[in-house]
Amino acid sequence: MPGHETAGSLPRPRHIAIIMDGNGRWAYRQHLPRVAGHRRGAEVVREMVQACAESGIPHLTLFAFSTENWRRPPLEVRLLMNLFRLLLRREIRKLHENGVRLRIIGDRSSLEPDLQEMIREAEERTAANRRLNLNLAVNYGGRWDIAQAARKAVQEMHSAGEDPGQISEERIAVHLSLADVPNPDLLIRTGGEQRISNFLVWQLAYTEFYFTDTLWPDFGREALEGALRSFGQRQRRFGRTGDQILEGSCASE
Ligand code: IPE
Ligand code: IPE
Ligand code: MG
Repeated sequence: MPGHETAGSLPRPRHIAIIMDGNGRWAYRQHLPRVAGHRRGAEVVREMVQACAESGIPHLTLFAFSTENWRRPPLEVRLLMNLFRLLLRREIRKLHENGVRLRIIGDRSSLEPDLQEMIREAEERTAANRRLNLNLAVNYGGRWDIAQAARKAVQEMHSAGEDPGQISEERIAVHLSLADVPNPDLLIRTGGEQRISNFLVWQLAYTEFYFTDTLWPDFGREALEGALRSFGQRQRRFGRTGDQILEGSCASE
């Protein structure tokens, strides 16, 4: 699907994924410690969640901590985890009141036990909310995701007495994170780098990419509108020709 369209307006994404990058550089520029950039970044998360809920975008997936981010200095890792705790403690009520369903994607087994428990509680509390699906990627890696899904698919086939040699894309896809939501229509990466950094590598196969030099702490509603305008002007072909799309062939994956 190209995203949803309302009469007279540009197509809008149903699912936006964001690589929130540039917190550290923002802090350096202000002569502040890196954590100040992460703190400001967390405020922008709040603003984006609000903006997406108001614009009727049903799915938002944010990259908060990658499987590679453990390579950072231990102090920074600790501060990021504490910030995450703070977010779960302080924001969950507001998210719940605003109809936001929070889900964490990633390998949570290596997070601190108290954090795992807070995640479980937050997910349970917001499970019935439908206004906005907020997926936060914590200790997430696209390669981890594919490997864990493949492992589950093989186990499933093994138990069913099927030949794992017959494994298909579909068999893997149902076990991936976010299997129950449409693939992202739009990926935004702030902070100037033009790479995926092991985010949703499978799910982004046909996603439109939008890179901006704006650092995440400076990203706001206006910047989001810019990304949405860019998305609205693109022709998504999914392998078909431009003429086919103009003739009205359903443009979907
Ligand atoms: C993104 O900002 C936040 C995380 C990866 C947790 P960075 O911390 O990567 O900021 P830069 O890239 O160093 O500016
Ligand atoms: C990607 O940002 C991960 C997150 C935003 C959580 P990084 O700053 O870690 O990416 P690289 O290392 O520059 O590719
Ligand atoms: Mg970075």
